[in-house]
Amino acid sequence: MHPLLNIGVRAARRAGDLIIRHINQLDAIKVDTKGRNDFVSEVDRMAEDDIIQTVRRSYPDHAFLAEESGASGDAEFVWIIDPLDGTTNFLHGFPVFAVSIAVMQRGRLEHGVIYDPMRQELFTCSRGTGATVDGRKMRVSDTRVLASSLIGTGFPYKEDPESLDPYMAMLRDVICQTAGARRPGAAALDLAYVAAGRLDGFWEIGLNIWDIAAGALMIQECGGIVTDLGGRDGWQQSGNIVAGNPRIHEALLKLIEPHLTPGLRR
Ligand code: IPD
Ligand code: CA
Ligand code: CA
Repeated sequence: MHPLLNIGVRAARRAGDLIIRHINQLDAIKVDTKGRNDFVSEVDRMAEDDIIQTVRRSYPDHAFLAEESGASGDAEFVWIIDPLDGTTNFLHGFPVFAVSIAVMQRGRLEHGVIYDPMRQELFTCSRGTGATVDGRKMRVSDTRVLASSLIGTGFPYKEDPESLDPYMAMLRDVICQTAGARRPGAAALDLAYVAAGRLDGFWEIGLNIWDIAAGALMIQECGGIVTDLGGRDGWQQSGNIVAGNPRIHEALLKLIEPHLTPGLRR
């Protein structure tokens, strides 16, 4: 395992353990509201601090882009961190959440770790060497047609009426044309499941780079495709993402296309 990935795994496992230690005292956790339907708890912040400290012990000069503390440092290597993806689930005791950590070198994603502390499942990848779940090689699914596919998604829940109507139209088509749609509530884990072939495809509007960096690289390393809603490369900037095995990705793009507004095309 690459030394950077090794530190990422250590940091993700430690953060996962910290999160789990709080699951039986949810009522005592302090929660702030960042925006409508957007919450942060002291557990998110503690997990993020712990991850950053773990990385700094080995790489004191590296930079960070972390959900709760923002960007710090200016370096060749940037650690992109979502300390607790699925905070709303966690706060309700709904057991679907994860830690997501990616390493970018000179603007290119190189390593990714997604850790599900409830199932103790560890997903990892490094550019050019593939991806694993608990040490076993992963591949995207070979489902060929939408009618047999299981598709993951996330609802646009922020104050963004412009994307809600087009999204509902997309969801309607997905529900009618696939074997099923799922909204588990942790985008990083959804992407890891696409990489592992448990979901055939995924789309969501308005994610942040820390939700998707590790999972997107994982899908690419497993033979899948990741684009924005228009089929182009801009997903890192827009946070609008379509992913899947190559056939389902293409079919999802076709399904989404008629519902795109000019803003969503970019
Ligand atoms: C959220 C989850 C959710 C997605 C949201 C994200 P958070 O992350 O990934 O599945 O639909 O858009 O913001 O806030 O729990 O880290
Ligand atoms: Ca997140
Ligand atoms: Ca988060």
